[in-house]
This record gives sequence, structure tokens and C-alpha cells, in this order.
Amino acid sequence: MVTGVKVYPEYIANGALVVDDATGRVVDYGSCASMMSQYGNDSRQEGQAPVQIHDYQDKLIMPGFIDTHVHYPQIDMIAAFGEQLLDWLNNYTFVTEANFGDAKIADDTAKFFLNQLLANGTTSALVFSTSHPQSVESFFNESSRLNTRMITGNVLMDQNAPEHLCVPTEQGIRDTQNIIDKWHERGRQHVAITPRFAITSTPKQLQMTGELYRSYDSVYLQTHLAENLDEIAFVRELYPNHKGYLDVYHDMGLLGRRTTLAHGIHLSTSEYEVLRDTGTQIAHCPTSNLFLGSGLFDLSKTLSYTGVSIATDVGAGTSLSMLTTLAEAYKVQQLQSNPLSAHQGLYQITLGNAQSLLLDDKIGNFMPNKEADFVVIDMGGTDLMERRMTQTKSLDEQLFVLMMLGDDRVIEETIIAGVSRYKKAVAA
Ligand code: GUN
Ligand code: ZN
Repeated sequence: MVTGVKVYPEYIANGALVVDDATGRVVDYGSCASMMSQYGNDSRQEGQAPVQIHDYQDKLIMPGFIDTHVHYPQIDMIAAFGEQLLDWLNNYTFVTEANFGDAKIADDTAKFFLNQLLANGTTSALVFSTSHPQSVESFFNESSRLNTRMITGNVLMDQNAPEHLCVPTEQGIRDTQNIIDKWHERGRQHVAITPRFAITSTPKQLQMTGELYRSYDSVYLQTHLAENLDEIAFVRELYPNHKGYLDVYHDMGLLGRRTTLAHGIHLSTSEYEVLRDTGTQIAHCPTSNLFLGSGLFDLSKTLSYTGVSIATDVGAGTSLSMLTTLAEAYKVQQLQSNPLSAHQGLYQITLGNAQSLLLDDKIGNFMPNKEADFVVIDMGGTDLMERRMTQTKSLDEQLFVLMMLGDDRVIEETIIAGVSRYKKAVAA
């Protein structure tokens, strides 16, 4: 859904993907016959190691899914009943996030979360940790072990949150600086400067955040924007001299092509124009917007101004599955007479989200030399899907059924840079 980019899906019925184990990169893809004749064992010279063949007959191989907004510590409070954003944050989220200064809790949760991502076919993500540097350390340690391409940073909060989650203004920025020094572009890890939102940072902290962001050309920035009407009213109270919510971020220098703002549901025309003029990206989080009753995101309007990615936003989002997330995005757009096709959706959660994060030179499809992150999908992964697939007449129909009914049950295997990191358990 990134503006100006055409959707060119490519489907190969009896296809093969050739991966170089030594580099973890794609060598080539094409019909099985042509790949076998070019790269198969019959083509190998004497002395060359034999090629390993993995036969995924009847399965669909797709590039790994990319989630552009998710909170890993919130996996422990997903599905908390009944509140809208500000009460939900105070009553559930901050309570859970308070635990992440504890290395054991942070390590265990990071491991569990990253394994859940793989079980859902997600191979890269832009992630919120907590305000504790430990939460970031635990996440990057596990992501490095798995060799997943991930982006995170410590959450900056110095007001309007429980005292034990607030970090003094300069200390929070220093923590981010240290994390950048240690982790940014180390292996496949990247750092995002992560002020939670305008409510939980003082003007001084947002100013320092902007200065830090502008001092790098490859570090990301992530925060939240205009998700809920009470949130917007609170920002207006805190920043009465600004033109609106987005103007606070603009004024502090937080906007730009490497900035992803989650939500952006309730915006004025001049705010859309600022998004366009700065190249700032919006992450649409449909399961979260429905769960918290935040509102209906206007995809076609937002797209007419800037790039939009799609994301789970767990724990306000109710699923880590990008397929389930697409199904909810479809329904949100149906309510606005703008249905999302399967090609648009599946393109978005792969190459589209990679483009939004400026990672499309590395991941998102199977172009030679890209990193071999991919998922093996069983289109009949549930009894219902197996039965429904027998009634389909075209690939488009099959992919739409996958988008509407698929979830972690269809993910057979997830491969990271050529190495299998998740395999679905076979029922006894
Ligand atoms: N706005 C500020 N923090 C959060 C959060 O953790 N989740 C959501 N959905 N919105 C937020
Ligand atoms: Zn969020």
C-alpha cells in the first residue's frame, strides 16, 4: 500500500527457490524444472558438495511476513477486557510493563514472543520494548540468536505514567544512545528511537528525541498518533500552543521517512499534508482499532497522502497473525466500501511493509541476493480451509480464503536466512 508502487504478484505453480546456505541469501527462483537443471545435483561438478533438496509439494512458499507495529511485553496482557486506550494503558499495560526490568522475565518473554512470531510466519518486525534497557537487551539477544531482522528501542516516558516506568528525561535519551551504540546495525538488528506518545514525554524529552533522531541517517523512530479522541484531547491540553497532535511531533523534529506512527485514525487535512510533506509512514492496526473501539482507519484517504503499512499492535491487537490482521483490515475497509484484495493484502504484509521500513533492498520478496526469510504455508491447514479450497476456481479465490481464514494453523515452517527456525508440530 506504499503510494506509487504497483502490485505485481508472481505465482509459480511448480516452483523452486534456490538458497545459498553459506550466505543465507536467495540465489534464484523459477520453475522447478528450470531450477533443477541449472542448480540440481546433475549440474554439479565433481568435488562440489551436493545440493540439499527440501520438497514442499502442494505447499505455498511466500516471503516472510513483516509486522510494522507490535509491543512484545504486552503478549502477557493481550485480551484484557473492556477499556478504551487511556484506561487500558493505566489498568493493564503499565502494570505488565513494570516487570521488564527483571532480566529473567524479559528473557523469557522475548524468547516466547519471538517464537510466536515465527509460528505466525512473521520474520521481521518493528517492536516496542519497555522503558527498561533490559527489555531491549533481552529482545536483541534472542533476535540475534535466531538471526531475525528486527527493530526495537527503549520506550521513552518521563511523565504521565507510573513513577517506576518513567525514566528521567536525560537518562532515557542516554539509554537510547547506549542502545544505538551497542545494537544498531549489528548483524540484522536495528534501533528505533521510541517515545511512547506525546502524553508520556515532556516537551524537553521530545526535543532531545528529535535532536538524537536527526543526528543519524539510518536509525528509525516509532511512536503513536491520533488513535483515540480522549488521547487527542489530552494532547491538546498538554500542548495548547501547537496546531494539533501531529504538530507536536513535527515541531520537535520527529517526522521523516524513517518514522512510523501507529494508528493515525483521527486526522485533519493539514495533518495528512504534513505526513505527505515529511514522508512519515502510518502503521494501520485493525485488530487493535476494533478491540479498543478507537475508530475506523480510512485507508484510501491516508494512502492518497503517504505510505501505509499494516501491523498487529499486540497487546491491543488481538492476534500476532498477519493473515488474521489482513482479514480484519478487509472488514474495516468493507465498512467504508473499499474492499482489500488478497493480492493487495499479501503484497502489503511482505514487500509493501518492507518498503515502508526501507528494508526492501534486503527482504520482502525472492529477488536474487535478498535474505532468504520465507514461510511454507499449508493452504488446507484446517479442515474448514481444506474443504473450502476444493470449491475454489482460481488462485485469487484461494488466496482470498487464505487471507480470511488463515492464521498460525496454516504456517508449516518458517525459515530465517536459509535456516529453519520453526516447524509446526505434527499431530500424533
Ligand atoms: N498509545 C500509547 N501507548 C500505546 C500502547 O501501548 N498501545 C496502543 N494501542 N496505543 C498506545
Ligand atoms: Zn502500539
